[in-house]
Amino acid sequence: MRPAALFCAAWQGVAIGLPVGRSTGQAVRIGRSRRRRAAAATPGNGGRSWPGGPLAVALVVDYSYFMSNADPVSGRFTGRVALVTGGASGIGAATTRRLSAEGAAVVIIDVSAEGETVAERVRSAGGRALFLPGDVRDERTWDRAAEAAEEAFGGTDIVVNNAYALDVAPAHETSPASWDRQIGVSLTGVFLGARRLLPGLAARGGAMVITSSVHAMFGLPGRPAYAAAKGGLVSLSRQLAVEYGPGARVNCVLPGPILTPAWDRVDEADRARSVRATVLDRLGSPDEVAAAIAFLASPDASYITGAALTVDGGWSVAKDSA
Ligand SMILES: NC(=O)c1ccc[n+]([C@@H]2O[C@H](COP(=O)([O-])OP(=O)(O)OC[C@H]3O[C@@H](n4cnc5c(N)ncnc54)[C@H](O)[C@@H]3O)[C@@H](O)[C@H]2O)c1
Repeated sequence: MRPAALFCAAWQGVAIGLPVGRSTGQAVRIGRSRRRRAAAATPGNGGRSWPGGPLAVALVVDYSYFMSNADPVSGRFTGRVALVTGGASGIGAATTRRLSAEGAAVVIIDVSAEGETVAERVRSAGGRALFLPGDVRDERTWDRAAEAAEEAFGGTDIVVNNAYALDVAPAHETSPASWDRQIGVSLTGVFLGARRLLPGLAARGGAMVITSSVHAMFGLPGRPAYAAAKGGLVSLSRQLAVEYGPGARVNCVLPGPILTPAWDRVDEADRARSVRATVLDRLGSPDEVAAAIAFLASPDASYITGAALTVDGGWSVAKDSA
């Protein structure tokens, strides 16, 4: 990280660390020996009070701002055009910013009007972005997005399939309509995007990156359709890699616990549990997943296709049996 960026990051870490730590229980620790001390300063552990005053404030500084978010690689996507689904929020918005910072023009596809805000911010920062409101389950959305990308920027080189839907309920309480909606957004939507765009990507030497989840590998209660969709995405990525290579590369990322608006509905105790389940002892940031997506979409990953990359702080490799 360059000195100027480090200064900004340090400032952000201090300024943002307080509210983030306070509202989310995301006390980021360097090493497990500090766990108890830091955990005592988080709301999930009785965080209405802040033992230690200023000292406790220091303990909840969000160190992810120091440890992550490598600078965008200048010009890695110059002349490239990307479509990002679910680009209005969380990982999709971070990916939009990252690809744009590295030179790509980006078309955001989302059902949320917030997509326009993200696109506007990219444009204000000197980038090229447009928002296309639409549902990934609708084939016409993909037609319109492909046409918009062609008209505005000259075609599509990169597709990031990232939108999803989740209703938390066990299988016997999941209605067929809910199942269809979740599979429709998270899995069928990706198929429709692949169907519309992969032949073109293959002709242009493009790349697709699909956002799966660690739920593809592990069961967590109340997520039957989500797990099925995310598992399906890992297989689908491999399949598409085989079918559309060597022209196009297709890979997927499997995020672990990443602090996005999707976590608004997760209570403090569950957040703290998720933090403890990681090796790196913290939640991840959307920017950290965006960096992995950008890597897989970039020429730096030119010999990688059909891969499934976990971005989970070690959540999937550490299980505490004590
Ligand atoms: N946040 C995590 O902890 C986590 C963990 C594992 C995997 N993931 C995956 O990362 C991806 C992004 O998640 P996030 O946490 O950033 O979520 P988010 O809720 O912040 O953003 C999801 C976006 O998808 C959009 N969307 C929903 N349905 C859509 C549809 N039918 N068509 C178009 N857009 C639609 C939403 O409007 C929203 O802007 C998802 O695929 C999710 O499964 C997230």
